[in-house]
Amino acid sequence: MDKILVLDFGGQYNMLIARRVREQHIFAEIKPYDKITPEEIAAAGYRGVILTGGPNSVYDEASPHYPAALLSLGVPVLGICYGAQLMAYMGGGVVASAENSSEYGKTLVRTQQNVLFTDVPPESVCWMSHTDYIKTPPAGFGVIAQTDKCPCAAMADEGRKLYAVQFHPEVTHTQYGTQMLRNFLFAVCGCAGDWNMRDFAAASVEKYRETLKGKKVLCALSGGVDSSVAAVLLHKAIGDDLTCVFVDHGLLRKDEGDIVEHTFRRQFNMNLIRVNAQERFLTALAGVTEPEKKRKIIGEEFIRVFEEEAKKIGRVHALVQGTIYPDVIESGKGDAATIKSHHNVGGIPDVVDFDEIIEPLRDLFKDEVRAVGEELGIPHDLVWRQPFPGPGLAIRVIGELTKEKLAILREADAVFREEVVNAGLEKSASQYFAVLTDTRTVGVMGDARTYGYTLALRAVSTDDFMTADWTRLPYEVLERASGRITNEVRSIGRVVYDITSKPPATVEWE
Ligand code: XMP
Repeated sequence: MDKILVLDFGGQYNMLIARRVREQHIFAEIKPYDKITPEEIAAAGYRGVILTGGPNSVYDEASPHYPAALLSLGVPVLGICYGAQLMAYMGGGVVASAENSSEYGKTLVRTQQNVLFTDVPPESVCWMSHTDYIKTPPAGFGVIAQTDKCPCAAMADEGRKLYAVQFHPEVTHTQYGTQMLRNFLFAVCGCAGDWNMRDFAAASVEKYRETLKGKKVLCALSGGVDSSVAAVLLHKAIGDDLTCVFVDHGLLRKDEGDIVEHTFRRQFNMNLIRVNAQERFLTALAGVTEPEKKRKIIGEEFIRVFEEEAKKIGRVHALVQGTIYPDVIESGKGDAATIKSHHNVGGIPDVVDFDEIIEPLRDLFKDEVRAVGEELGIPHDLVWRQPFPGPGLAIRVIGELTKEKLAILREADAVFREEVVNAGLEKSASQYFAVLTDTRTVGVMGDARTYGYTLALRAVSTDDFMTADWTRLPYEVLERASGRITNEVRSIGRVVYDITSKPPATVEWE
């Protein structure tokens, strides 16, 4: 199997580089620059190495450097942004810094004929983000691209198969970025492009089968896509040595708890403990109306329940988590304001003692996780499930939570989702659900006055959930949902549709 090493120098697009390589059906492994030596790279049989961008300046003592031996291994190297400057520095070229040479954003680049630029027109748009620039390429390198401000936007030493680009071919703003990466991967490195997610799943299963042999492993299963895929993968590797704990906090959607239990216990034959903690969560949440307080209570209660179960099981070696790459980025944004304290299983390791945390999906994006899930034979409905927040329906019942309100919301939400699916629109919205507001309004039914709750329907379309647009669901679908809900669900007297995007609103109401 061909593999490419992405040597990480701390840039913001590093995972994207790996993803772009995987999109070409070539396996990409990411390693921090200080965790692998040139000798280890040579021994590991990589087809090529990509040096990522990074926030530093090569002349800064504290900035990450790499032994120049990398350039003489005979392994093709592509340096990107900081990685390009580092290659120039390693090879004895000159990197300079000048305020007036910085470039940010879309920039016109002129490329010369070169294997890296096969099928790339002489002028195209690239994405730049730099202040330092390569003033003089090292001996053996020739300049192969320029911009108005950058005398060396790309350089190459074709004999040694060394290439460097100042811009970012991995971002979509670079018009021919994918083509350039393809040129490097196929024409320069000679990759075959025959890797797929099945190989990833198989290799991961094999790896954990060996490294975790005879060891007890615990997994907090929520029934969401990520933890389900992680659990099934580990189960394939170690079978009954994996115990999954599914905390049913009573805040799940209609029938969801039973579906999770059935799928994993019956279909996958997993060692699953379902903790029915509904009453416990309701008691802890009684009288609480403030959204952040609700979230905190649920998060803490979840950890407590999990901890109690873990103690009953006794000493286990490792904890499996369904962390995926976007979670890694989000948790890294330490200085961003907390809009909502997100709850997922990320808090557990602090309170339970494990030798190891296993995160098999840490490098993958959501769609890649879904592809792995399909490969592992997880039911389609589960793999394509829309995201569901950890605190569940508690943040979709506005104000105080009661058993009765949860039951009302569960029914109404199920009707709405069913109507969206019946209309074949489940893929046109990224998320669609109902919210039970705490506003009651007057209505008329038969000849009698009613005083029921207002239910809000919400559907959003988004790529990354950081921003989202409200989905323009057809009126007919909304009409059918509203008609059925007011008829079939007791206590709902009015249905409204949320037409706010994010920002200024958020996806969830609380
Ligand atoms: P917001 O409401 O912040 O939601 O715009 C963005 C996305 O995150 C989901 N969400 C959560 N997911 N734990 C989760 O695992 C949480 O506490 C949580 N809160 C919101 C939300 O459903 C949407 O997909």
